[in-house]
Amino acid sequence: MAFRNLPQELIRAKRDGEALLPEAIVELVEGISDGSLSDAQVGALAMAIFLNGMNAGETVALTEAVRDSGEVLAWRDLDLTGPVLDKHSTGGVGDLVSLVLGPWVAACGGFVPMVSGRGLGHTGGTLDKLEAIPGYDIAPSRERFRRLVREAGVAIVGQTAELAPADRRLYAIRDVTATVESLPLIVSSILGKKLACGLDALVMDVKSGSGAFMATLEKSRELAETIAEVASRAGTPTTALLTDMSQPLAPCAGNAVEVREAIALLTCEKTGDKRNGRLLEVTRTLAAELLMAGKLAESRDAALALLNERLASGAAAERFARMVTGLGGPADLLEHHDRYLPQAPVVRPVHAERSGRVTRMDTRAVGLAVVALAGGRRAPNDAIDPAVGLTGIAALGEEVDGERPLAWVHARSEADAERAAAQLKAAIEVNDVGLGDVTLPTLIQDVIRGEVP
Ligand code: URA
Repeated sequence: MAFRNLPQELIRAKRDGEALLPEAIVELVEGISDGSLSDAQVGALAMAIFLNGMNAGETVALTEAVRDSGEVLAWRDLDLTGPVLDKHSTGGVGDLVSLVLGPWVAACGGFVPMVSGRGLGHTGGTLDKLEAIPGYDIAPSRERFRRLVREAGVAIVGQTAELAPADRRLYAIRDVTATVESLPLIVSSILGKKLACGLDALVMDVKSGSGAFMATLEKSRELAETIAEVASRAGTPTTALLTDMSQPLAPCAGNAVEVREAIALLTCEKTGDKRNGRLLEVTRTLAAELLMAGKLAESRDAALALLNERLASGAAAERFARMVTGLGGPADLLEHHDRYLPQAPVVRPVHAERSGRVTRMDTRAVGLAVVALAGGRRAPNDAIDPAVGLTGIAALGEEVDGERPLAWVHARSEADAERAAAQLKAAIEVNDVGLGDVTLPTLIQDVIRGEVP
C-alpha cells in the first residue's frame, strides 16, 4: 500500500513517546498484513510500543485494526435464536474450562463459535486436548463450522489463515524481538483474534499466580482491566475475571486426561466431589457472566440456576457430544471414552519425600513437567503425545503421605516417568504443618466488567 505517512516517521513518533492517531495505526497494521512494512520496521515498531506503551485510545485503535485485518465472522444471516458468546483464557495448567464452558453455555441458549489455540510454553492448549479425540477435525470448512454453531450451539476449532492475519505476522516478529510482554501488544493480539469472531459478548479468564502468563498479581490485574476496557470500547461487552493459577485448576494436566476430566464433569460423575470444586467454580462463574452479558439471565442467581439445571439434566453433555460427532469424533465418546482416548503405557504414583501438607506449588514447573513428558511442545513443530500427563494432583493444603501421592504420572516410558517424578517433587512443597498454616489462595479474585460507551 502507499503510505500517507512514511512508516519510519510513524515509528519515530512512537519511539519518541508520542501517541499515534487511529488512521496512522490502521495504516501500520495494513502494512503488517500486506507485507509493505518490512520485518525490520515491524520489529522496530513493536519495540517502540514495548518501550513507550500506548494509551487506551491507541490500544482500542490497534485492536480494531488487528480485528479488521482479515475476515470478521458474521452470524446475522443464520437467524440464531440467541447471542453469540465466547470465553478466552490467558492460559494455565489443568485449565480445561473451555471444553466444559462451550457446551454448557450452548445448552443455556448461547451460540459459541470458539476459535482456540495450542499449548504455549508451560500452558496447555484446547486444540491439543481436542485432538486427543480420534477423528476430531479442528479445521472444518467454514460452512461446516457455521452449521455446527447453528445446530449444536458450539464448535471449538482452530484459527484460520483469514482471521486477524496481522496478528500472525506481528506475533511471530514479537516472539523473536523480545517484545511479547507488552500490555497493548498482548491486549490487541488476544482481542484482535477474539473480536474477529463476531461476538455479542466475551468473558476473559485472566490468571494470576505461579502458573500465570503475567509474572505478578498487579500485572495480571492491569491486563484484566485493560482487556475489559478495550474490548468494550471496541464494541464487544467484555467481563474479565481474575482467577488463581497458583495450583493447577483441575487435578490433572495433559491432553487425553483433561478430556476425560471434562467428560466426568459434564456427565456429573464427580459433581460435588471436592477435587473438581475449583474447576467447576471457575467455569460456572465465567459462564454465568456470559449468560448475563448475553441477556440469557437477568441476574447472577438466575444464571446459576439455569446453569445448574442444564448440567444436571445432561443437556450440556449432550451439546458436547453433538460438537464431537459434528466434527468427526466418535458418537459414543461420552459413554465409552476409555475405548477412544489414548492411555499411557506407564502410570505410576509419585510420593513426596516426606509426609505433610502441600504448602506451595510452582505451577509453571508442573506444566513444564507435562511438556517434558511430550504432552506439550518444546519446538513449534514437535508432535505431542496425547496420552501422557498427570492425574490426581494433590491440592494446596491437602495431606500427602505414603498412601496419598503428589500425583500419578502417565508416561511413555519408565525413564520419562522417573524424570517427571523428580520435576514434580521439586515443584510441590510439602511441610509438616496444620491446615490453618497453609495460605489457600482466593480462587476468583475479581470480576471486572467493561463499560460499553
Ligand atoms: N496470547 C496471544 O494470543 N497473544 C499474546 O500476545 C499473548 C498471549
